[in-house]
Amino acid sequence: MEKILFETYKDYFRVGAAVSGVIFNDDFRVKIEKKIGKKINCEKDTALLKKHFNLIVAENDTKMERIYKAENDFDFSAADKFIKFGKENNKDIRWHTLVWHNQSPKWIFKGEKDSQATKEQLEERTKKYIYTVGERYKDDICSVDVVNECISDKSFCIRTKDDHSMWREIMGEDYIEKAFFWAKDAFPKSDLVINDYNLEIIPQKRQAMYELLKKLLAKKVPVNTVGLQMHISMYNPPVEEIEKTIELFGSLGLKVIITEMDVSIYNFEDQSTKPITAELLEEQGQRFFELFECFKKEAKKGYLQDVLLWGITDAFSWKNNFPVPNRPDAALLFDVKGEPKPAFIRINQ
Ligand code: XIL
Repeated sequence: MEKILFETYKDYFRVGAAVSGVIFNDDFRVKIEKKIGKKINCEKDTALLKKHFNLIVAENDTKMERIYKAENDFDFSAADKFIKFGKENNKDIRWHTLVWHNQSPKWIFKGEKDSQATKEQLEERTKKYIYTVGERYKDDICSVDVVNECISDKSFCIRTKDDHSMWREIMGEDYIEKAFFWAKDAFPKSDLVINDYNLEIIPQKRQAMYELLKKLLAKKVPVNTVGLQMHISMYNPPVEEIEKTIELFGSLGLKVIITEMDVSIYNFEDQSTKPITAELLEEQGQRFFELFECFKKEAKKGYLQDVLLWGITDAFSWKNNFPVPNRPDAALLFDVKGEPKPAFIRINQ
């Protein structure tokens, strides 16, 4: 009998997955089917999700642009379906994400007649959003990404307009601490997460996050968890760097979680396309095995709490369109037909 993945890791961490709206929202699936002119078969994804994962997060449906339609106008129709799906299937549920420069509605940064919003306007809107979401879901959500991707890859400072973020521009650097204080009020029982990518890859970015966290903690800002997105490659970064990153943030007394893991078959700068061979997938399996051994070790040390994959089968992975559009990748545990890949077999022994 095949083992259940989350049971394999029950003494270490929860094992989660990001869920696309096509799985829990029939109206959305039908809409997409009409748009692309063919049926979407996500039955395997749904069955695998229900069986092997005990923690879920919405891949897109709990982002601000999906919910915050206009001043005082909230659309919770998709988010409600996501939460209902999680509760009916006995899954723990994460919220992704409250404050982020991407997938936020443009209107919140605008004032009268297309001018820029004032500091007061943006603060009021952000606060209102956080409190309204908390009011509705605070009892259902175990952990919340409060601030996502706030550190610049270029300057290693808090992102500015040059890095496509208007939060700091309009509210000032302390938008981060304000968001956490509001989130603490709105979600009193949830872990409050600062989430980012490449922290295990770019040492300067990791250091910048470390310095930021030290400042926040000195001011008693209620951040208690660091989320490492972990969009990595088969070839990079070395496991030792990941281990170092987890321990660095753990040393601040914070919990660490892996929030969006996938392991691309391509190296970062690689723009080419290659065949997905059995040999390549074996190699990927070895990489997943080594990563999960590291995660076990870091869980035993008390640092690592959760590991979430950013999807279930390779059929619906965002990596098939990022960073190169329409290039099939194979970054997850199950293949496009929903069959277990060596990666799944190696980590589920
Ligand atoms: C991605 C989704 O997977 C895509 O479907 C969507 O088109 C763009 O966003 N970091 C994040 C996630 O925090 O929200 C992103 O998700 C992937 C990178």
